[in-house]
Amino acid sequence: MMRMLRAFRSVLISDLSMVLEYLTFRSPELWLFGVCRRFLVKHRFNNFGGIPKIESPVRIYAPERLKVSGFAIIAKDVLIDAEGGVTIGHNTGIASGTKIRTQAHVFSCPDVPWLHQGHRIKPVVIGNDVWVANNCFILPGTVIGDHCVISSCSVVSGLIPPYSIMAGNPARRIGSRQTNREGENN
Ligand SMILES: CC(C)(COP(=O)(O)OP(=O)(O)OC[C@H]1O[C@@H](n2cnc3c(N)ncnc32)[C@H](O)[C@@H]1OP(=O)(O)O)[C@@H](O)C(=O)NCCC(=O)NCCS
Repeated sequence: MMRMLRAFRSVLISDLSMVLEYLTFRSPELWLFGVCRRFLVKHRFNNFGGIPKIESPVRIYAPERLKVSGFAIIAKDVLIDAEGGVTIGHNTGIASGTKIRTQAHVFSCPDVPWLHQGHRIKPVVIGNDVWVANNCFILPGTVIGDHCVISSCSVVSGLIPPYSIMAGNPARRIGSRQTNREGENN
């Protein structure tokens, strides 16, 4: 009997927290939901330097592994799969529609269906003062250096040096914010 009650309680708690997260991160931009969102963001994420601005709706998997600056912005319709760990730095903005992934299916053995080969996970790190424009896709293991600009709809992987302006699929370096500032051609 006690075991049944305990099982019921844990299902209730996990369902309630799912409902709470759903209401918080998928809710309309209303004041009350905004207050709940700030509360959850404060207590579920690994924030540093304050509470980041997170619009709604967003989808965040494994929020406890999302490390995000209090001076960062995550716009609506962003998807972050933080299972492998995601870090987002100061003054960085993730524009709407962008997806950040830290997991991929393993498919190395051709004799076994990919569905049964599990996942490999790699963290994603996005530095300070980075603008990730609309509808980008950030692949597992990507490290974006400080001050980069990732143009809209780019598919990004690997190590991106600081100040790079990246565009395309696969994303290529189309310029540098440093040379732009100096007025040189890229
Ligand atoms: C980041 C951005 C501002 C770069 O602009 P820029 O430095 O002025 O670059 P340019 O427009 O001069 O383009 C340079 C080259 O990269 C290409 N390019 C620029 N953005 C691209 C993109 N998103 N995808 C593919 N190629 C792109 C251009 O076609 C051009 O190619 P070319 O040299 O062969 O002609 C712009 O590309 C962008 O993505 N803006 C985002 C818009 C957006 O999402 N707004 C919402 C606000 S959050």
